[in-house]
Amino acid sequence: MYRISELAEQVGLSRSTLLYYEKLGLIAGKRLDNGYRIYSERDLQRLRLLQQLQAGGLTLKECQACLEAKVDRDLLLNRMYQLDQEIAHKQQSRDLLAAMLGESDMTAWHQSLEQTAPDAHLDWLMKQGFDEKQALRLKWLSKDMNTHEQYMADFNRIFQSLDRWGPGLEAETIKAFGMLPSKPESILEIGCGQGIATTVLADQSDAVITAVDNHEDALSRLQERAAEAGVEGRVVTQCASMTDLPFSDGSFDTIWAEGCAYIMGVNNAFNQWRRLLKDGGVLVLSDLVWHTDNPSAERKAFWSKEYPDMTTVDERIKQAQAAGYEVLKHFTLSDEAWQAYFLPLQQRVNELKEAMAGSQAIKDIQTELDIYHQGFELFGYQVFILQKR
Ligand SMILES: C[S@@+](CC[C@H](N)C(=O)[O-])C[C@H]1O[C@@H](n2cnc3c(N)ncnc32)[C@H](O)[C@@H]1O
Repeated sequence: MYRISELAEQVGLSRSTLLYYEKLGLIAGKRLDNGYRIYSERDLQRLRLLQQLQAGGLTLKECQACLEAKVDRDLLLNRMYQLDQEIAHKQQSRDLLAAMLGESDMTAWHQSLEQTAPDAHLDWLMKQGFDEKQALRLKWLSKDMNTHEQYMADFNRIFQSLDRWGPGLEAETIKAFGMLPSKPESILEIGCGQGIATTVLADQSDAVITAVDNHEDALSRLQERAAEAGVEGRVVTQCASMTDLPFSDGSFDTIWAEGCAYIMGVNNAFNQWRRLLKDGGVLVLSDLVWHTDNPSAERKAFWSKEYPDMTTVDERIKQAQAAGYEVLKHFTLSDEAWQAYFLPLQQRVNELKEAMAGSQAIKDIQTELDIYHQGFELFGYQVFILQKR
């Protein structure tokens, strides 16, 4: 026989817990004449059995049910299912911590945050010490803060020697230029890259062109190209972010942005860039859009990761109108414009594949190229010519 303090010591529980168990009828002490409570070997063993059942993750109530009747299989199955879920949850938490410590891949985490909370994601990246330029590149390109530097070094190695960094064609730039309501005198080109469209715009007009990009090397190459074309006197470069353009209101009659507005979000671009236009000024912008309301699962899965904000032409038109523009014209870039971008890129990837085996940047670019090789019926680049109302 055991006194309550002895029983408590045997099973490692407190006196008050034992009294509570007694109240529930799990053990049954006897009161002696001297007022002490004593417990039997049976009580001790019931407590040990109870503890074993608790170790299986059962609640006290469930343990009691198991002690008092035949084990309920459904109850056990249900509890096991709950435990599986808790374990999966905990595993996810552990994976995230390991990824943040640089022990594994963070891509999936960045991607899911990008889909559900893109602005908070960007803010958080900047709190981790990335400047805006790198945070945006991480968000769009490397998608893993632990491997970002290596990824960008590889990415730049692949793209550096290519003139065109997005779909487009000289003839299509000229086509869009021909849709302007009047000849521009002051053009702001945003996300100009190495100036593939800049020299075409300079050739088509007598305008002064302010070419903005946040990539210094690209701007140096643009200046060389402008000099080669003999238009350097009318081309001014400015290294700045498209999210914070250092120009006063109404500075330009035309803004030109080929394949870059997605970086800050097209709708944000509509709203933030409008102030820079003179009244009646025109924004020319190209964006990747769905040409269907029902994309195939494979394409949808790919683009919802690569460009979660991708939408239809109609939706972009609604956004442009709501932001204070009249849609003058819009058209779809031709397959040749895509080829002008992705065929040289494929050739470059082929050249580097062996030397850069294992590079995530090469793998990602090849995945994207594979999508392009399948054709452009379901999605494409749309050029919008929008006049400030
Ligand atoms: C897809 S490329 C398009 C370049 C060029 N318009 C073309 O069609 O070849 C996007 C360009 O935006 C630039 N860029 C990225 N983030 C930027 C930012 N925050 N501000 C300004 N330019 C940015 C990149 O350096 C790159 O030149």
